[in-house]
Amino acid sequence: MVVSGAKGDEVLERLPKIVLALLIQGMVLLVIALGVYLAPLLVSPPYPYWVLILIQGSLAALVSCKLGLPCWWRWIQFFIPVGLYAGMLINFDPIWALVIFVVVWLVFSNAFKERVPLYLTNDTTRQALSNLVKKKRRQRFLDLGCGLGGNVAYMSQQKPVAESHGVETAPIPYLISKLVTLLRGGQTFAMDMWKTELAYYDVVYAFLSPEPMPRLWEKVKEEMHPGSIFVSNSFPVPGVEPSEVWELSDSRKTILYIYRL
Ligand SMILES: C[S@@+](CC[C@H](N)C(=O)[O-])C[C@H]1O[C@@H](n2cnc3c(N)ncnc32)[C@H](O)[C@@H]1O
Repeated sequence: MVVSGAKGDEVLERLPKIVLALLIQGMVLLVIALGVYLAPLLVSPPYPYWVLILIQGSLAALVSCKLGLPCWWRWIQFFIPVGLYAGMLINFDPIWALVIFVVVWLVFSNAFKERVPLYLTNDTTRQALSNLVKKKRRQRFLDLGCGLGGNVAYMSQQKPVAESHGVETAPIPYLISKLVTLLRGGQTFAMDMWKTELAYYDVVYAFLSPEPMPRLWEKVKEEMHPGSIFVSNSFPVPGVEPSEVWELSDSRKTILYIYRL
């Protein structure tokens, strides 16, 4: 199948990144196979494997950004063939590759399913969240996709917060969040954020990605009660004017988009 121009770009964009990355590796492998077939016309064989591997990694890294992968994936694209070859050289037991894959999956499964990876809210942002809840009493706080549970525990220790909850579906972060909240306060649930009842909460916090924001805003509008607050760290709701925008003074210049319902 030949896909060209804007339509081709669209098809590539819609592919999951990992599939696109593997397609690129496959394509480069074909180019190298053709190169090896034609090379005897110029240089006589044998061709050392390590040279072919370096060409494979470098070519894949070079074209990845142009073919729609985020540019930082070029490092992954380079190290996939190099890593596999190094693994073969040291007789790396494939069972360990499987173990590593399973652990990565259990931590980052939502990066594939929801396009939301795991990264954590910092102390400055938590301080800002505590300022946000200062004015009212007996508030209920929810962290959608609570990661390791740090925010939930922190907010449970703030005086105006009566209940601090979090939901998380990635297994390892959820287990850690359970432990963290057991020791430091708050409560987390192994629950999909799309199944939560936002109406119960006065302050709902999300630190996700641009991907779920339009759908999440529909849920927020439908369920959250007047006077409650939805806060999104770093990712605004497209096309909706936030009530307030807080620019924090941390090193990553965190922006909190605050929507008062
Ligand atoms: C960027 S992390 C933020 C973690 C934490 N809220 C914090 O700010 O430190 C986003 C988290 O949302 C979780 N997540 C993504 N989609 C989810 C869903 N549908 N239901 C529950 N958790 C989800 C991910 O597994 C990840 O742990």
